[in-house]
Amino acid sequence: MCQSNRNLRAFIQAGLLLICAMGTLLPSLAANGPLPPINLRCEYLKNPLGIDVLQPRFAWVLEHSERGQRQSGHQVLVAARQSVLDQDKGDMWDSGKVVSEDSTQVAYNGKPLESGRTYYWKVRYWDQEGNASSYSPAAQFEMGLLLPQEWKGQWIGGANQLRTEFQLAEAVVRARAYICGLGYYELRINGSKVGSSVLDPAWTTYEKRVLYATYDVTSNLKRGANAVGVMLGEGWYKSRSLLLQMNIELASGKQISIASNPSWKAKDGPIGSDSVWDGEIYDATKETPDWDTPGFNDSGWTAAQVVKNPGGVLSAQMMPPIQVVDTIVPLAMTSPQPGVYVFDMGQNFSGWTQLRVKGPRGTAVKLRFSELIYDTGMINRENIRGAKSCDIYILRGDEGPELYEPRFTYHGFRYVEVTGFPGTPGLDALRGRVVRSAVDSAGNFATSKPLLNQIQRIIRWGQSTNLHSIPTDCDQRDERQGWLGDAHVTAEEAMLNFDMAAFYTNFIRDIRDVQDAAGTITDTVPHRYGSRPADPAWGTAYPLLCWYMYEQYGDRRILEENYDGLKKYVEFLRSKAPDNVLRYSYYGDWVPVEKTPGELVSDAYYYYDVTLLSKIAQLLGKSADAQTYSQLAGQIKDAFNREFYDAKRGVYANGTQTANALPLFLDLVTKDNRDAVAGNLFQDIAYHHDSHVTTGFIGVKYLFPVLTRLGQADLAYDMATQTTYPGWGYMIANGATTLWELWQKRTGPSMNSHNHPMFGSVGAWFYQALAGINVEPDSVGYRRIRIEPQIVRDLTWASATVETIRGTVSSYWTHSPGVITLDVVIPVNSDARILIPKEEQMTDVVVREGDRVIWENGRAVPGVPGVTGVSRGKDGSITVEAGSGRYSFKLTGQ
Ligand code: BGC
Repeated sequence: MCQSNRNLRAFIQAGLLLICAMGTLLPSLAANGPLPPINLRCEYLKNPLGIDVLQPRFAWVLEHSERGQRQSGHQVLVAARQSVLDQDKGDMWDSGKVVSEDSTQVAYNGKPLESGRTYYWKVRYWDQEGNASSYSPAAQFEMGLLLPQEWKGQWIGGANQLRTEFQLAEAVVRARAYICGLGYYELRINGSKVGSSVLDPAWTTYEKRVLYATYDVTSNLKRGANAVGVMLGEGWYKSRSLLLQMNIELASGKQISIASNPSWKAKDGPIGSDSVWDGEIYDATKETPDWDTPGFNDSGWTAAQVVKNPGGVLSAQMMPPIQVVDTIVPLAMTSPQPGVYVFDMGQNFSGWTQLRVKGPRGTAVKLRFSELIYDTGMINRENIRGAKSCDIYILRGDEGPELYEPRFTYHGFRYVEVTGFPGTPGLDALRGRVVRSAVDSAGNFATSKPLLNQIQRIIRWGQSTNLHSIPTDCDQRDERQGWLGDAHVTAEEAMLNFDMAAFYTNFIRDIRDVQDAAGTITDTVPHRYGSRPADPAWGTAYPLLCWYMYEQYGDRRILEENYDGLKKYVEFLRSKAPDNVLRYSYYGDWVPVEKTPGELVSDAYYYYDVTLLSKIAQLLGKSADAQTYSQLAGQIKDAFNREFYDAKRGVYANGTQTANALPLFLDLVTKDNRDAVAGNLFQDIAYHHDSHVTTGFIGVKYLFPVLTRLGQADLAYDMATQTTYPGWGYMIANGATTLWELWQKRTGPSMNSHNHPMFGSVGAWFYQALAGINVEPDSVGYRRIRIEPQIVRDLTWASATVETIRGTVSSYWTHSPGVITLDVVIPVNSDARILIPKEEQMTDVVVREGDRVIWENGRAVPGVPGVTGVSRGKDGSITVEAGSGRYSFKLTGQ
């Protein structure tokens, strides 16, 4: 590079730096008072396309230059045109100034929203002094096809490739494609794939509901000839049908629709077979290039057939689609036998591989997937049972390398065996492609203890790669089902790690869809495995997921919409418990080290469900129901104690950790017996099991919060950090990169998935106890926050951040002898109770916030902005009441 160029570059760089520096400085100079709201969401989604909720709910996050701030009012504008919104007008809805604290779950209340229309919205707020922010940047949402009669197409099939062509006489101003292609589809227009979703649509109970996606295809279409091609896979539908409609607005304002009908052409393409469990066979010699572009000669194709309507109502798919979210470079490749190459991705995950290969036409390369490997270096597929999990690619024989990724299958794997490869593959022959529902990350958690960070890592991998439009039990074997037990025990952990609001909204509707007139639901949703009625410890997912949605996101509407369903479910349980004890059970505390009687587990959940129903009834103003169910809960509690409490031993049933933890967690234990039961639980853990967990996946969810609540966080921590069997550290010590299904290390043909998220429920305890981030019990949606970290054993720091529905909440503490620091972030429009722990022996405690003292000589020192109260708790910990803002506390003592 010549000198002058270099100077120019340096000059530009310096300029950029200056602009960046000004960029960071300027807002803070100008940023006094309330800042414009950010992170605008509609039905939990950012700028969603194609929603079918008629009164969608809005949420925004507030920012302010000062601490202790809240919203005293807001104004939402919704306009049918961006230009109207730009003039600060809302021709669809102008809420006016609403005196309200609500910055989430604000329901649209304007003119009726119309099918297919895009709406633009923004919001401003007033802080507690009555100062208004400027308006937020504009966001948008768009309605789907709201009425059944607006669907003009027919369900068609007949082959795994369908195509049509059409002419557009004018330029396209706006075009939308509405598509439901079962089991899976790939939509292509004029030679390219539309959108980035894969394995779409979501798996539903197809005879009840099918989901369609909406795409903006304006830029895919052109004046003149256009072609649409759709590839179909069998997916969970086990058949192929397409319903498609494109609504196109031309330059003159003319509207036309292109819809699926028997005038379309059909012909099987290169995909020879596809199956979720078994894999895909793709014969590239059968490709017909340009089949999805106009002018293609389809005279050899047959007419598409009209096929059976799947039967379910068409609903908009309103959650993050499944996508390729990441690409993994393999760690290593070996050749355990001539011609057999085994790639190690270094990580267990769900998805597939991208194959890069060059060779003679007709060469078949076979990819077989496994989680495990034998000592010989060959892949071990015993634990994937009946799933063939095998992709075959037959080469075209191009001059350059050919790239292949399957479309309509996915695998759970770490290892890939490649056979039939022409020549010797290099590491660049394969890339891992991570495929899952593309929910955003919402939380992170880290501590000074590397083992905990490793556990957190395998929890996140296990959890996220089991999100496949429904929460699945595993991703590799001939199952991959929405087992409800696994779904509810992991839900809190999932909500702290990922933005799950839209995902669970959809899944709760899936649960409602399987409910029958008798109120029963099924073990798996959609129902394919397991029983109807569900095991009560599985069926409880229905009330529990609704409740977690309310607690974490403040979603009252989900309670309203499901109230009748929940009541029917509880009434069904009641019909099975004439003496107030619910005994039927199939699985109980599944995969434990020590078994607990299933009846105890079922009955405890019966109590839990009835209690929740009574609370929900109360919340929704159904006071008669609230009373009925709270009385019933009392009767169940009495019966539970009569049936399961062993007064001689001071334990429930056979005294396992689960048998005692469940009643303690649910407050089923009478006051007189509490100390005995708690004491026996501690004894069992510490002395009989050397601080190891012995529960199955039900008990473990409650064991950790119970111990914490009873002041035994150290004991919980001991269990969480064991490196010997049974425990998470044992999995890590044995090379786990995702959570196992069993505490035991098994690799045979039995049930032993190596990517099963349900033991990851301890992840919620990481956030809630170790970092201390909680919703206050009397509050929801992080309106009131409780920061209550547990400073345990050798941990010298812990840190977590959660992007809640109201904004960022974070907690970071450090502990060194005599000094505890705690940094906290509370979003605007929330307040917090912050419990700063102290060392047990500490006296003469002094607490500072920044460089100002807030507690000294046993008294609060007022005057620190945002801090509204400081007091001392029974255990000597210091409780700070604070409004929004960032705080840095430091507690010292003698
Ligand atoms: C699944 C579990 C599920 C269980 C029911 C298994 O096959 O993988 O996680 O909850 O069946 O007992």
